[in-house]
Amino acid sequence: VREFSAVILGAGGVGKSALTLRFMKGYFHEAYDPTIEETYRRTITLDDEASRLEVLDTAGTEQFVALNDLYIKAGRGFILAFSLTDQSTLKEIESLREQILRLKGDRVPIVVVGTKSDLPEERQVDREQMMQISLGWGVPIYETSAKKNWHVKDAFDDLLRQMRMR
Ligand code: GTP
Ligand code: MG
Repeated sequence: VREFSAVILGAGGVGKSALTLRFMKGYFHEAYDPTIEETYRRTITLDDEASRLEVLDTAGTEQFVALNDLYIKAGRGFILAFSLTDQSTLKEIESLREQILRLKGDRVPIVVVGTKSDLPEERQVDREQMMQISLGWGVPIYETSAKKNWHVKDAFDDLLRQMRMR
């Protein structure tokens, strides 16, 4: 069984842990407990092939960003998470993407994920903007809700397929 290590990165509070827990453990965590660093492992059967997936859930908080270089060097694929309810969180994934390109080159598996799609009345990032990111960066982008379990599996499956091909 092949093994793949993914890293989820993005600003504090966007829902990286909620997304990871939803996919890796199958439940939604309502409380906000800022992460320091957490690793999850799971065997996933996708397209008739089993893979071991390791997901490193990182801290979005400023005081830990120094670790991002190490995480990026160690990771094979990346989920860049921003909140659909907070326009400012797009800035963070822009600089994270640049950091990834700098450290790993431009053939790295990446999936961009907009979180909290179950809060339409708080939404600040529209479809148009998402299309621009996807086309501009040449990466798939998903609107997800960890709470409602919308498109969470789609995003992780996409990343796993990309990692298998590289
Ligand atoms: P750091 O670990 O500090 O970087 O934050 P994080 O990105 O891991 O955020 P976390 O997953 O802890 O979520 C922050 C808050 O947003 C929590 O209260 C979550 O319950 C909430 N949240 C996360 N995902 C969703 C979602 O899909 N919908 C809604 N409504 N709330 C969400
Ligand atoms: Mg977290």
